[in-house]
Amino acid sequence: MQKKTVKDMSVEGKRVLVRVDFNVPLDRETSAITDDSRIQASLPTIKYLVTHRAKVILCSHLGRPKGRVVEELRMAPIARRLSKLLELPIVTANDCVGEEVKSKVEMLRKGDVFLLENLRFHPEEEANDPSFAKKLAALADLYVDDAFASSHRTHASTVGVAQYLPAVAGFLLEKELQVLGCLLSEPKRPFGCMLGGAKVSDKIGLLQNMLRWVDVLLIGGGMAATFLKAQGYEVGKSTVEEDKLDLAKELLQEAAGEWTAKILLPVDVVVAPAITRGVSSQLVSIEGLPANSFIVDIGANTIELFSDVLRKCHTVVWNGPVGVYEVPPFDHGTRSLVNVLATLDNATTIIGGGSSAEVVQEMGLVDRMTHVSTGGGSSLRFLEGAPLPGVEALLDQEK
Ligand code: 3PG
Repeated sequence: MQKKTVKDMSVEGKRVLVRVDFNVPLDRETSAITDDSRIQASLPTIKYLVTHRAKVILCSHLGRPKGRVVEELRMAPIARRLSKLLELPIVTANDCVGEEVKSKVEMLRKGDVFLLENLRFHPEEEANDPSFAKKLAALADLYVDDAFASSHRTHASTVGVAQYLPAVAGFLLEKELQVLGCLLSEPKRPFGCMLGGAKVSDKIGLLQNMLRWVDVLLIGGGMAATFLKAQGYEVGKSTVEEDKLDLAKELLQEAAGEWTAKILLPVDVVVAPAITRGVSSQLVSIEGLPANSFIVDIGANTIELFSDVLRKCHTVVWNGPVGVYEVPPFDHGTRSLVNVLATLDNATTIIGGGSSAEVVQEMGLVDRMTHVSTGGGSSLRFLEGAPLPGVEALLDQEK
């Protein structure tokens, strides 16, 4: 790790501002937390600071309130869950800056934990406004960034504040960077990447960068239609990104040519006349796709082909469902392949955040994977090889 971490600093008695990512999914009707993995993931940093007698000031965003106070996006349910997990009372406030916050910080004792209100109730947070960053910084003596999932954002609490305080990484950020970093430096080979999701355009950087590193790239999901079309197949009513056909052709050529990586596409697919629950579907070879239907999942032969490849890999990274996961039974291909990943005892299995992490969580297989990233957009950016502004802002280790 090239960045300083919380272990490099003395924290006893210090006011430590910790940027966490407590942007957890909430039930639409009850606002109850439906998955607290992100809270759990930051516990090691918080517990370390509590044990080492720091005054811990946590800050996070929740949802996208667009600079306004949105009652349903207050941090109260998170404070309650955190209190339960830490078995400690949590100090809370109505805002993340201002007089109330300042006086509560003054009253903190060593080992206390204070959770500020949603940062994004202020438009200055996403605008990375320097005076807002200064206000946050003025609350503390030290800044710890443990919000890997927000590290691709240039916001006041992820980048701005680091201008005014000594800034180091927390344990979650450190772990994410180490695990994902290994993929791009010394993966055990064969190294496979399974990619899905709706669009090629969302994952161009990832496709290009992965192709440089991996031995095999398995492509499913909506984006497979553009690749199949680029190979000359008819894909019915499935969305083809016409402006990405040339790119898809180039990638396919490169994969077949001088680069060691290979792209594998579905050899059969499940198709349906509409992407809705209860609609009838059929399994077809990619040579015989009916003109009036959508590709909704990979087919049985593809599941077998992809499974065989995955079983030979010693490192696998997965990002994006290979079918329309949210409309069962078109989740079958994704579920089958995730089950295969869960059985790869001799392989390192890394799951990208976002929808892939949700699938693994929902299937109860988190413990069967080497690492499930807490970052959706940030893990994508990292694997694209792009710098993460939240990480760049931190202090470097002395050489
Ligand atoms: C995420 O859920 O990916 C992070 O919390 C970042 O949220 P954002 O996409 O709203 O910035």
